[in-house]
Amino acid sequence: MKVKIGVYDSGIGGLSVLQELMLALPGVEFIYYADVDHVPYGEKSREEIICFADLAVRFLLEQQVQAIVVACNTATSAAISTLRARYTLPILGMEPAIKPALQCSNGKRVLLLATPLTLREAKLQHLIAEVDKAHLVDLQAMPCFVRFAEQGQFHTDEVYAYCCRQLEKYQADEYSAVVLGCTHFNYFKDTLRRRFPEPVRFVDGCQGTSRNLVHILQEQRLLEYGEQSVVYYMSGRPADSQQLSFINKCLQHLHNMREI
Ligand code: DGL
Repeated sequence: MKVKIGVYDSGIGGLSVLQELMLALPGVEFIYYADVDHVPYGEKSREEIICFADLAVRFLLEQQVQAIVVACNTATSAAISTLRARYTLPILGMEPAIKPALQCSNGKRVLLLATPLTLREAKLQHLIAEVDKAHLVDLQAMPCFVRFAEQGQFHTDEVYAYCCRQLEKYQADEYSAVVLGCTHFNYFKDTLRRRFPEPVRFVDGCQGTSRNLVHILQEQRLLEYGEQSVVYYMSGRPADSQQLSFINKCLQHLHNMREI
């Protein structure tokens, strides 16, 4: 039996998770759902996102996926518990990687960058209360990164100026790590590196989510090997050639960001 996995994000951010999943699962068929009709999620309400996420999950179920990865921190914060209560297949989410970042922080500060919705949701407040006993984590919203990424603007002066403005109050040498708490932010690692030189580390949740999925597939004996493939849908419509060429450009850019 061919294993099909649904991967869902508001847009191109989840490609950073897909890329990790493709490395870990060479025999799987992926169905990628980018909710381009409703991106950005981070500035919308929880209730709206629950509706969008439900539509995406229903579409992916029609494609007969065996598991779904919500490759979006914002949709995970707003909707994962509702989705898990409604559907029986495994639904994995993303969590800002502040726990691993704090484990190697040696008492230095950690900066979490995410969308406004992720930062205000109770899910993050509970995580911080549990893992940040020494109050080392600072929170910063970067909503325009999502818009820039969706426009394919990864390196412009406007992007760098925004980055400097938003992060003006943080002294790079006080930080051990910057946590990328939104899957769209992986596109800006080179820009962020100009503001946070080494040894500051960039930490994201992509590998952790990929490990969790491998584990679930192993448990369910679903790790059979066929040929890997990916089919892309834009809010339920097959991606056209222009959208596919943009996706390929994004995957190439993410590949270049991997070593940063
Ligand atoms: N990629 C998303 C995340 O990980 C959401 C970005 C958005 O649509 O605002 O949070």
